[in-house]
Amino acid sequence: MGNKFNKIITSGMSAILRLIKTKAPEQGIPSKLIDESSINEVVKAMTLDEKAQLVIGSGYPGPNGLAGATHAIPRLSIPSITLSDGPAGVRIGGLFTVDAPRYATAFPIPSLLSATWDVDQITKVAKAMGEESREYGVDILLAPAVNIQRDPLGGRNFEYYSEDPFLAGTMAAAFINGIQSMGVGASIKHFAANNQETNRTTINVVVSERALREIYLPAFEMAVKQAKPWTVMSAYNAVNGAFATENRYLLTHILREQWGFGGLVMSDWWAVKNPLKALRAGNDLIMPGVYRGPFPMPALIKALYNNSSAPIPHLLKTAVQNTALSESDLDSCVRHILKVIVKTPTFKGEYKDVDYKRKTNLTKQTAAKGARIDREVAAEGMVLLKNKNHALPIKRVTTVGVAGQNAIVDLNDNKLGIIIGGGGSSQVNVEPKNVVSLVEGLKNAPFVVVNSINGKKVVEGLDVGEAAYLAENTDIGLVSIGRASTEGIDRLDMDMKPEEVQLIKNLSNAYHKEGKKLVVVLNIGAPIEVVSWRDYADAILLAWQPGQEGGNAIADVLSGKVNPSGKLPVTFPAKYNDVPSYGNFPGNTAMNTVHYAEGIYVGYRYYDTKGVEPAYAFGFGLSYTNFTYDNLKLNSTKMELDKDEPLTVSVDVSNIGNTSGKEVVQLYIHDERSSLERPYQVLKGFEKITLKRGETETVTFTIDKRALLAYDEASKNWTAEEGLFKVLIGSSSRHIKQKCQFRAVGTWSIDKRFRFIL
Ligand code: BGC
Repeated sequence: MGNKFNKIITSGMSAILRLIKTKAPEQGIPSKLIDESSINEVVKAMTLDEKAQLVIGSGYPGPNGLAGATHAIPRLSIPSITLSDGPAGVRIGGLFTVDAPRYATAFPIPSLLSATWDVDQITKVAKAMGEESREYGVDILLAPAVNIQRDPLGGRNFEYYSEDPFLAGTMAAAFINGIQSMGVGASIKHFAANNQETNRTTINVVVSERALREIYLPAFEMAVKQAKPWTVMSAYNAVNGAFATENRYLLTHILREQWGFGGLVMSDWWAVKNPLKALRAGNDLIMPGVYRGPFPMPALIKALYNNSSAPIPHLLKTAVQNTALSESDLDSCVRHILKVIVKTPTFKGEYKDVDYKRKTNLTKQTAAKGARIDREVAAEGMVLLKNKNHALPIKRVTTVGVAGQNAIVDLNDNKLGIIIGGGGSSQVNVEPKNVVSLVEGLKNAPFVVVNSINGKKVVEGLDVGEAAYLAENTDIGLVSIGRASTEGIDRLDMDMKPEEVQLIKNLSNAYHKEGKKLVVVLNIGAPIEVVSWRDYADAILLAWQPGQEGGNAIADVLSGKVNPSGKLPVTFPAKYNDVPSYGNFPGNTAMNTVHYAEGIYVGYRYYDTKGVEPAYAFGFGLSYTNFTYDNLKLNSTKMELDKDEPLTVSVDVSNIGNTSGKEVVQLYIHDERSSLERPYQVLKGFEKITLKRGETETVTFTIDKRALLAYDEASKNWTAEEGLFKVLIGSSSRHIKQKCQFRAVGTWSIDKRFRFIL
């Protein structure tokens, strides 16, 4: 009782104190930023100069080589907050700066993270990144990147999650929840339709409203509604004629009015062409501010950023004075920024005791934890594409003959034997000694590795005699094929080099002659061509770009310590001219335009509807064990659209193999007949389960009426039509194991504010 009374008194006192502080301008003392409730008063107390300063980042690079920061306004107790990349780990120091290298954990690329199809795994990674952000005093991590992998040649596909918006949105929401649970903000990017690197800062994406709503926006929409990211990053490109940074339709109408986004929108780095238009459209923060690097801005970067240095606050101030920009528009941007600032660890004083200027490495404990999580998750997202006659796991084998790109352990025989991630802003400065190459990983397993013949490293060239030598002297052969890709440039092709195919053929023949097997490991970030050579391999493991512990993680899967359970988040096409965007990627670069002519038929939506056989289907991945699917049950064969009563579907999944393993059970919805043209099927649910040998689990999904929605351009609204729908349950989009059906009846009139959760 007494305690409660005390509490009332103290909370009353602090309210009065706050009132005194926030009411202070009338008494000539500036308002202070205390918490969210003080924001309006602070905005009133701000001068035009201060407002203009706050909406522009404080310059590039940010403190300690970070990607950026905001301006501090000490007079009003507004601190500078720090922003760091990115999607594969905290990027701090090093790149583009002469700042001291600062090390963090290089986690797997996001494509691998989504290949786990496991929200717990991605949450674990996000939390670890949150912990590392905190060690370096980072307030906002510039991740996740959720753009759709529209074409296999997209230079940043490795950094994105999937060709499917439901998978990408589910993983993004889990990532954001993970990072923000650590008190660090997320920045979901790049909003929107940023699906290529060619002419990325100038290209105009011409895309139908339906494709936007059904393919390019839902990952953002799901994440915004389900996980409330503190910030959204607007993209470089233009969408239907207006730059994303200046696109009021996207930034205000869709994001804020329809989805209810309450955070701040920042631009991508130097993406803003016209600051007034950007602020008016709802792009609150113009990043990063002026370039103030240690050397003159390289000509290439200048060219990429349209030769613009950051707009100056003076320009904005004059604009308000000339009424070219309304002060209320500027105030709304300032308010959004302050709303995020008050949530940050810096604002809360949580970073004040650490000297970040001196800090150049993680604590031992955090570094060890990061490495452990990277190894676990990397193994979990690797996809076994082929495993003829149980070539894997490597059992009762001691000697591995390694050839191909990763056969080099390093230039001086220590590192470089693995591509751990992609290039650009998501590249993490990892301490070199912490990178585990493929050969090192195999040795740690432990296997005896033979990777040189007559003192020569087996990289690409290897003649028939040398192949025979390797096959005679080792128990199993391993060829690794690597592909690097980076932000800023799209890939030229998805081809294999003739010498790589020759290497695989020579080794295949040599090992098969000895009655031994050949394994191919793909150390890549996005699909490559596989049809021309896969028959020569007994097993193919897609290892992606697995982060710093990659070598160990690959060895864990090859040795059977980990049973592979990754599934493809993207289709591997049989050949490049099968892809739906073929001919429309990267568009007409002279005209700076790309037409998304394939509309909603992206990825498996195209292959499965048009009957084009992929090399490996969306959702596909093998295990060292086998699963069966039985006993599909649907609780009703009728769904009433005017009610909110989801159906329940369950299926029994059994592990009928000899070892325990994990399966990703996937649920697709097929619309039997509809007035709108629709893809054959769309993913609407998935669940990853672990089963011991002989075990059975009943997997239950709910099917919400939202799973039936399609976007109707005529009515500018989502629609769910009456009629017959099929529920397809499978282990990939092309391996459907069980089917059932229900009829949707009645009508659902959808409020155009689209506030329902997708
Ligand atoms: C990238 C963003 C990144 C930013 C800051 C840009 O080049 O497109 O994803 O967050 O740089 O490094």
